[in-house]
Amino acid sequence: MIFTPTETHLNLMRAFAGESQARNRYTIAAKKAKEKNLYVLEEVFLYTADQERAHAAVFYDLLQEASGQTLTIDGGFPVDIDPAMSGILQAAQRNERAEANDVYPAFAAQADRDGNTRAAAVFREIAKIEAVHAERFGQFETWLSGDALFSNNAVCVWMCQNCGHLHTGTKAPNVCPVCLHEQGYFLRAEMAAYTNGVTYRQQVMA
Ligand SMILES: [Fe+2]
Ligand SMILES: [Fe+2]
Repeated sequence: MIFTPTETHLNLMRAFAGESQARNRYTIAAKKAKEKNLYVLEEVFLYTADQERAHAAVFYDLLQEASGQTLTIDGGFPVDIDPAMSGILQAAQRNERAEANDVYPAFAAQADRDGNTRAAAVFREIAKIEAVHAERFGQFETWLSGDALFSNNAVCVWMCQNCGHLHTGTKAPNVCPVCLHEQGYFLRAEMAAYTNGVTYRQQVMA
């Protein structure tokens, strides 16, 4: 039997391709960050890359009906090769915004028209996640280009991303006093995964 894909099947494949590429772009960016001793940016990119893999898996699962087929798609995919970390972060933010504001909302509307309610819901939910990615990349770009990746205009808590050491001050230490890893491992604790930013802010106030 010949399988005729709907436009939503093709959009799911476009999304799978886009997420797969985003994952690779971010692992490539992570390697560049590491080369520049910006380990915290390496972590941000790897963390986000893993979420893109998860998005790709969700879209791929929704192509179950097309299993065994080859889907032919056209699509636009970004090329952003930049030696500067700030340029890579800006491009990442721009691409995430495009997914969040344009691409996935359009795919969701098409899925509505195709009667694919699960795909429509997933496109809408993942669009919201991509908006968070855009915001996070933008925030780190602002800190990086403002020379504020490891310093803050107010006292805050910094966490060594290697050993978890917490340091309170306007600057991350040059070297972690516990594990001796360099400053590039430090992150504002409120940005750290699995931590409660409010708790750390209260600790500073105490
Ligand atoms: Fe994604
Ligand atoms: Fe994303």
